[in-house]
Amino acid sequence: MKPVKVGICGLGTVGGGTFNVLMRNAEEIARRAGRRIVVEQIGARREHPGCDTAGIQITNDIFAVATNPEIDIVVELIGGYDTARDLVMTAIENGKHVVTANKALIAVHGNEIFAAAQEKNVMVAFEASVAGGIPIIKAIREGLAANKINWLAGIINGTGNFIMTEMRDKGRAFDDVLAEAQELGYAEADPTFDVEGIDAAHKLTILASIAYGIPLQFSKAYTEGISKITTEDVKYAEELGFRIKHLGISRRTDVGIELRVHPTLIPQSALLASVNGVMNAVLVDADAVGQTLYYGPGAGAEPTASAVVADIVDVVRTLTADRDNRVPHLAFQPSQLSDLPV
Ligand code: HSE
Repeated sequence: MKPVKVGICGLGTVGGGTFNVLMRNAEEIARRAGRRIVVEQIGARREHPGCDTAGIQITNDIFAVATNPEIDIVVELIGGYDTARDLVMTAIENGKHVVTANKALIAVHGNEIFAAAQEKNVMVAFEASVAGGIPIIKAIREGLAANKINWLAGIINGTGNFIMTEMRDKGRAFDDVLAEAQELGYAEADPTFDVEGIDAAHKLTILASIAYGIPLQFSKAYTEGISKITTEDVKYAEELGFRIKHLGISRRTDVGIELRVHPTLIPQSALLASVNGVMNAVLVDADAVGQTLYYGPGAGAEPTASAVVADIVDVVRTLTADRDNRVPHLAFQPSQLSDLPV
């Protein structure tokens, strides 16, 4: 069978990680996908002299990747809202399947993107957009497909959790830890998104859409960050038997779906209290299975690449299995979304 050709847009932390994983595990990935996956072209707006791209063609025109007739799947890893939206819409208009790690893009422009994808009969997969390497989208969409979901609560920003953990365990100052998170490639290009809860609200919006079958409604999420928390706050909480965790919480209520992101005092004995450093965890309460917990690295090059490549494999398998019955990677069919208020 012919190999599937992939174009990667963005060669930052996640782009570089995705390229490396695709190269290093090419045999294993081909066995899982049933076909070889070849990186045909890379679009990178900046120079990346330190990155060994094994002679693969690099262009600084990312739109050339989205329109390249040779390419089957466009992998959007540039981040941000508007250029990423235009790139993904161009790829869809050109009949490409799309894999993205971009939570801002999906939370804000996802409704429009999924509608366009359905119109063009192409897939849009976004597992890496929430909780890095944890397959949380697949877990909720597929693993919990039998359930009515009551609520979910999670630590869904690795940078914030890393900062809070270091403040608690080592008494380090907020800004010092944030600088380290940036060096380690955990933080967003604009770290305000991490520390003010915007990144977590993007992810919560996506989780809620998958969990309750509602359209993406980022503007309705209550968002509060961790930037005002001091080392003293962290210490006093511990003395009282609690821990401060920055949580994203969504809950089905009698009047609609609640979406909120804020620092929360939780008992030290709670499972989420033991989630440290860059790790993320999502606790889901559902009617048939009860409570399930998903835990793993929430940021970083290869953990995020793990989810990106899993989506590429998923798209390839679906492509190969059935060419006439593709749907975007949604838990609910777009025509079946409920109008539950948020
Ligand atoms: N800045 C994000 C975080 C990256 O720290 O969780 C992963 O989405």
